[in-house]
Amino acid sequence: MITENWNQIPIGAPEDLHPFYRIEQPFTDLYKRIADCPACELARFRSKTVPGSGPSTSKLMLIGEGPGQREDELGLPFVGRSGKFLEKMLLSIGLSRHDVYITNVVKCRPPANRDPLTQEISACDNFLQEQIAIVNPTVIATLGRFSMSIWFPNEKISQIHGEVKKIDGRLIIPMYHPAAALRNGSLRKTIQDDFLKIKETLNETK
Ligand code: URA
Repeated sequence: MITENWNQIPIGAPEDLHPFYRIEQPFTDLYKRIADCPACELARFRSKTVPGSGPSTSKLMLIGEGPGQREDELGLPFVGRSGKFLEKMLLSIGLSRHDVYITNVVKCRPPANRDPLTQEISACDNFLQEQIAIVNPTVIATLGRFSMSIWFPNEKISQIHGEVKKIDGRLIIPMYHPAAALRNGSLRKTIQDDFLKIKETLNETK
């Protein structure tokens, strides 16, 4: 059944659909529940929910903050300016966005791109945990301080970015958010180096 505000392409969509929009079976029920979620204020402002994109079998999961304007329009994560930079970083380590699972701590756009609130992050956390359980990634890279706080609530990103930490059997790598490089060009090299760390870590766990 397709729910009323179901904003993604339905199951059984034509094969030639852009790969961004293909939803694998393990995600269909979850993405529908996200599309119908009324759990916090953000539901009132969204055009589309932005559950996530990428294969259910990805070894690498990237977790950002929350959708921006473009993401809210398309229902896909990291398709705006930050996304362009993110794709560049992925390419630099031989990956494309289709190789990795990408999501955010909140699945709806905060108005005027404000930071997500603690209660909004909590309301969305069950969805993120389900995504982690489905994808079962070996490596999770947190992009920015909000996703970092899930595993490292008391740390500073400037102090632990690029470090690989093993938690509950997964390797977690805190990273700067790609938007940080757009605001502050001097972080580009740091972020690039941290992406190399992701590559190294993936190679070591092959
Ligand atoms: N910033 C994020 O954190 N997530 C997106 O999806 C886009 C921009």
